Amino acid sequence: MKTKMKVRKAVFPAAGLGTRFLPATKSMPKEMLPLVDKPIIQYGVEEALAAGCDQIIIVTGRGKAAIEDHFDQSYELESLLQEKGKSDLLAIVRQISDMIHVAYVRQKQALGLGHAVLMARELVGNEPFAVLLADDVIDGPKPCLKQMVEAFEETQSSIIATQAVDGPMISSYGVIDGKQIKGGKFGGRLFDVKNLVEKPKMEDAPSNQAIIGRYILTPEIFKTLDRTPLGAGGELQLTDGMRLLLKKEKIYGYNFEGVRHDTGDKLGFLKATVEFALKRKDLGKPMREYLKGLKL
Ligand code: G1P
Repeated sequence: MKTKMKVRKAVFPAAGLGTRFLPATKSMPKEMLPLVDKPIIQYGVEEALAAGCDQIIIVTGRGKAAIEDHFDQSYELESLLQEKGKSDLLAIVRQISDMIHVAYVRQKQALGLGHAVLMARELVGNEPFAVLLADDVIDGPKPCLKQMVEAFEETQSSIIATQAVDGPMISSYGVIDGKQIKGGKFGGRLFDVKNLVEKPKMEDAPSNQAIIGRYILTPEIFKTLDRTPLGAGGELQLTDGMRLLLKKEKIYGYNFEGVRHDTGDKLGFLKATVEFALKRKDLGKPMREYLKGLKL
C-alpha cells in the first residue's frame, strides 16, 4: 500500500500590488494591513499552522520587505520591551517570530496566480502543498484549511475550497462544475470536479460554487502550470492549470464551513474589522455599544 501523503508546506502568493487600497499600500504591503491589531497575512499563517503545516513559503515581490520583518526577530523592539518590563507585549512579539520557519521566493513580474504558485516549485518539491490567498480571511468553527486537510487525508487528491455565490458576483471568481458527493464522512461538502472556469460571465457559470482562496494541490500542478496558456486578464491562471490537471488526476471541491471575508475589497475589509472587533474580549463590549449608539 502507498504511504499516505501529508500536507506540510503552505504557499502564500503575496506579490500583488494592492492597488485597491492605495494610498495605504503605496509603501506598505496590503498583506500587512491590520484586522484590529493583526496583519491580514498572519491570520492565514496561523490557519496553516493549525492545519498541521510546518513550512511557510511566501511568494513576494518588490516593496514587500515588511512581511519578512514581521515574521523575523525584532532585536531592538524585544530588548526595549524587556527593559521596560512589558512581558505581555514581549510574548506577543516573540510568538510571531517563534511561530515557524518561513522561506521567501520572489515573483519578479505580476503574471498571475498560476505564475506565483509556479515560483514556489523548487521550495515545495515533490509533495502535496497548500496555497492560501491571504485576502480571503476565513472564520470558521474549525480552520478552513484543517477541514480541507481532513478531506485530503481521505481522497489523496487536490482539493479546492468553494462557497456558494449567487447572482452577478459569480463573475469575480473561479467556478467549479462539480457533482456533489452526498452523505458520507463529509456530509455533502465534497464535490467531484468535472470542470473549472476562471471568472465566467454570469450566464456561462457552470454552477454557483465559487473558488475561495484555499487550495491543496498535488505537485503534478507544477507540470501542468508549466504548459498552461495565458488566460483571463492575460495572466497565467491557477484555475486554468487545475483544468489541465483534471485530465490526469481527480480534483475535489470542498464547500467549507465558515464565514469568508474578502479583505481585498474595501467594504469586505471594514466588515471583517467590525466583526473581529466584536468577537474580542477586550473590545467586543465597547464596540457593540458604540455601534448601537450610531444614528443610522
Ligand atoms: C483568485 C482566483 C479565483 C478565486 C479568487 C478567490 O482571483 O483566480 O479563481 O475565485 O481568487 O478569492 P482574484 O481574486 O485574485 O482575482
